[in-house]
Amino acid sequence: MATREPTPQEQSRLDAIRQQWQQKRKITERFDKIKHKIAVYSGKGGVGKTTVSVNLATTLAAQGNRVGILDADIDCPNVVNAMKVELIPGYKDGEFTPAIQWGVKILSMGFFQENQDEAIIFRGPMIHNTLNQFMEGTDWGELDYLIVDMSPGTSDAALTIMQTLPLDGFVIVTGPQELAALDAKRSVNMVKKLNMAVIGVMENFSGEMFGTGAGEALAKDIDAPFLGKTELRPDYKDTSKPSVLISPAVKGEYEALVGKINDSLENLATVE
Ligand SMILES: Nc1ncnc2c1ncn2[C@@H]1O[C@H](COP(=O)(O)OP(=O)(O)OP(=O)(O)O)[C@@H](O)[C@H]1O
Ligand SMILES: [Mg+2]
Repeated sequence: MATREPTPQEQSRLDAIRQQWQQKRKITERFDKIKHKIAVYSGKGGVGKTTVSVNLATTLAAQGNRVGILDADIDCPNVVNAMKVELIPGYKDGEFTPAIQWGVKILSMGFFQENQDEAIIFRGPMIHNTLNQFMEGTDWGELDYLIVDMSPGTSDAALTIMQTLPLDGFVIVTGPQELAALDAKRSVNMVKKLNMAVIGVMENFSGEMFGTGAGEALAKDIDAPFLGKTELRPDYKDTSKPSVLISPAVKGEYEALVGKINDSLENLATVE
């Protein structure tokens, strides 16, 4: 059969496929240099994903690990503020060099806002492109852990991360009440549908005010490790630093959490 030149439409489709493939290869190359890639996720907003991401990363860095945080919440990027980052990332020839604070490398859309309360209104495809640009273009170097602070729920951003990043798995954050755990279960279902691993469930805001128990019950229900609780505390009022650097009680909780996460990562590695 005689070959023919592709039509312009066919050519542009071929170009798009080639570009996508190259992007995917670049992302895989970058993330191959990172030992553990952990997403912090919840079904609902405001349960503490950013707080957990920041304190987890700071604890790991204080233990001597090489750590990064990718703020994958494109519309509401809070990591820059939570980490009180002073220096901005570098950008040269299409490549980002993350900012560093408290020993943690950080990349966030928050760096590219004019001011903090500027609204970021992105449609799905733009979120997808921005995240891909971050994943493809960031020079993290060699890392022991990358913590990915997700946006809540089953949004476009969450889907893009799940489909693109070679993650070890998800730390699911829930509140201590049953309803919160129900929302968390929806996010677990999405993780499972995409054949990805749940590292475990943790409960935030535990204590007298809201009670406790939903996190452990959810872990049992979905047959995943329970990673522990972080209590509702006034210690978080001081926002000058991640709370693990201020409060010994919070520091203790996060050191225990790191231990459980490492145990679960080891287990996941042997199961595979
Ligand atoms: N254990 C805790 N005790 C007291 N305050 C807390 C605790 N955990 C988080 N907070 C506070 O609750 C608020 C919401 O937390 P955070 O921003 O981490 O939630 P989030 O899940 O990332 O929210 P979003 O879905 O909007 O990204 C913050 O002001 C944070 O300081
Ligand atoms: Mg957040």
